[in-house]
Amino acid sequence: MLMNPADLRNAPHTLLDLLDATAARVFRTDLSQPGFAIADLGADLTPIQFRSMHIGFAAALDHAYDRRFSRRLLLRSMGRFDQKVSAEAHLDGAPDESILMLGYEPSEITSRLFLIDYTRCAFDRGLQPREFLDRFNPTFGEGRSLLDAYATELTPFDRRHYRIVMINNSCTPVDRAERGMLGVLHKSIVVDPKSTQTRFVNTMMLSPADVAADDVVGTEDVRAYLNAGAFKAA
Ligand SMILES: [Fe+2]
Repeated sequence: MLMNPADLRNAPHTLLDLLDATAARVFRTDLSQPGFAIADLGADLTPIQFRSMHIGFAAALDHAYDRRFSRRLLLRSMGRFDQKVSAEAHLDGAPDESILMLGYEPSEITSRLFLIDYTRCAFDRGLQPREFLDRFNPTFGEGRSLLDAYATELTPFDRRHYRIVMINNSCTPVDRAERGMLGVLHKSIVVDPKSTQTRFVNTMMLSPADVAADDVVGTEDVRAYLNAGAFKAA
């Protein structure tokens, strides 16, 4: 979905609709939903404004997860990195139930992002997601070719825009689908990287906790991330 930050300022209630649609797609309780969503915020932001929205999205997803599942979604880590290498299909290192929020800044470097529904691929073969990953390597051979049919390229993915991609990064059995944590793999191809150019990706990882749980990342750490993209893992 394409969002104009100025429109959001003028009509903030539209953010709730956006988050509801995002929550249904990302916190999926069945395999008819994709397990990911993108918010394209256009080009008219600064990196600090963008990180402010990134933090706001994390707080809003926490709220949306609580409303739907009566559990919190806690921010566990965040940071900003200049990433210029491709990555084969993978889950980011995190608890078995986790949501990854990737915040892409505008870049001269073209890249492509693929989301791969390995949970569905496993289900179609009578396997749990963890069993599938234990049995097949997603990055080559049979595992890779099995997953080809379950890959979706995220388009449009405009390198000139600020974009937030929310990915269900979980590895949860399908019979626990009521927790909304059925995951997908992600894979990125960085096309023609040039060492003189930057490609900044802001990364946040969230994972569920009891509804009464306190934040695990402190205010000072969130401020350091906001101001300078500082890395912190709790
Ligand atoms: Fe990753």
